[in-house]
Amino acid sequence: MISKRIEEIINLLDRCNTLADIGCDHGYVAVEAIKREVAKKVFAVDINLKPLLKAKELSKKENVDNKIEFLLGNGFDPIEEEVGEAVIAGMGAENICDILSRAKDRISNTTLILQPMKDVELLRKWLFENGFDILKERVIKDKNRFYVIIKSCYLPERISFSDKDIYIGRHIVDRREETYEFLLKMKEKMEKIINMKKKSFIDTLHEEKILTMIEEELKKW
Ligand SMILES: C[S@@+](CC[C@H](N)C(=O)[O-])C[C@H]1O[C@@H](n2cnc3c(N)ncnc32)[C@H](O)[C@@H]1O
Repeated sequence: MISKRIEEIINLLDRCNTLADIGCDHGYVAVEAIKREVAKKVFAVDINLKPLLKAKELSKKENVDNKIEFLLGNGFDPIEEEVGEAVIAGMGAENICDILSRAKDRISNTTLILQPMKDVELLRKWLFENGFDILKERVIKDKNRFYVIIKSCYLPERISFSDKDIYIGRHIVDRREETYEFLLKMKEKMEKIINMKKKSFIDTLHEEKILTMIEEELKKW
């Protein structure tokens, strides 16, 4: 059975002709996208051979291997055509930003589903600064861990964004229980960081600003 996290990633996909699953690992996204007819063809890419073989095995077991092309390489590098959608999930935001930077000129017509394991604010900042708007964000809790999933696409016109869009995100508008819990957790984390820094006499102005944004948001619930 696939996890709630993978399920939410698939739910955010639109129907498309070609999907890239970058860093496919086990191949769950690639296989499910074909099985559910979300994509007609998938490029499953991984920088390591072992996961790629694992994904291939799963696709054979599920009888969808004829619709998935398995490619060894870094990010979008081994894909020779423009894809309609791309999933980059389960890695750090810094790695996701590197992958996007390498492919910046070839993803202006690609809808991106991105799920960083950490530093989501880095990813939001990269997207806004590089002309990608955030269309949707979902916060989900799966096995006691929170995940933020972002749907994004390139916009030719200049994007305006605030610090709140970077540090809190636009997902807060959805008013779901999981999002509220996530905000509380962010508040707790920020308070811990501030306390630690204060003990070491390190300036906490930046963190206090983020904490105020979180508290203001929580007050609206
Ligand atoms: C933790 S797994 C996540 C798998 C899956 N996407 C998910 O969300 O469950 C990360 C995978 O990304 C691959 N990976 C890391 N950096 C990559 C890159 N630059 N290009 C392609 N694959 C990469 C790793 O080899 C690994 O299999």
